[in-house]
Amino acid sequence: MDQLKRQAAARALEEVRDGMQLGLGTGSTAKHFVELLGERVAAGLNVIGVPTSEATRADAERCGVPLTTLDEIDHLDITVDGADEIDPELNLIKGGGGALLREKIVAAASDRMIVIADDTKWVPTLGRFPLPVEVIPFGLGATRRGIEKAFAECGVSGQMAVRRAKDGHVFVTDGGHWIVDAQLGRIADPASLAKALSAIPGVVEHGLFIGLASSAVLAGGEGIRVIERR
Ligand code: A5P
Repeated sequence: MDQLKRQAAARALEEVRDGMQLGLGTGSTAKHFVELLGERVAAGLNVIGVPTSEATRADAERCGVPLTTLDEIDHLDITVDGADEIDPELNLIKGGGGALLREKIVAAASDRMIVIADDTKWVPTLGRFPLPVEVIPFGLGATRRGIEKAFAECGVSGQMAVRRAKDGHVFVTDGGHWIVDAQLGRIADPASLAKALSAIPGVVEHGLFIGLASSAVLAGGEGIRVIERR
């Protein structure tokens, strides 16, 4: 599986040109991309990156990839990031690693977003992977009721749980927020659900990435498939 992730990362790296400004995703697949990019930088490639998490910042620094921020530059050429699920419209669920907020800000600031993944992430319909919703801890009860109402309006339902870290404490995002994971099973209309969740006070961001991915690089046993958004 790790080999497949690295193959997808290597294929995305072929799109990178000298002088590009890159969004650097988070997760085990994006980590391969940062490592391979670091090798190219060491060989003379001139690029600059914006990391989507503190973990990716640390990886990029370790690999010698020069970094900047979205305050210092006005756009990104390409963001390369992983995903938890990818549907045929190239809508995504992201946030399994908890970096969805910065990932979405960076993807939205990019001319193109290339999603890299092993082909187990490819699904006919989003929702089997629990949908992460990043929330402000204050007033969480009210926010949860708002989320339940949005789910009902969009024809989905399922258990919600505040995410915990391995040590049992509440998982806290890089932005200082919490994450509620919702087991929805099947999200028939992800665009409507995305809109409804974004309208709830207390919801900082959610893991539905609608219309952001330009292409997906999927690595599987049969080779690599590149799917462009229609
Ligand atoms: C991080 O918050 C996520 O959005 C990741 O991009 C996603 O979970 C994919 O991670 P892996 O590449 O480790 O599967």
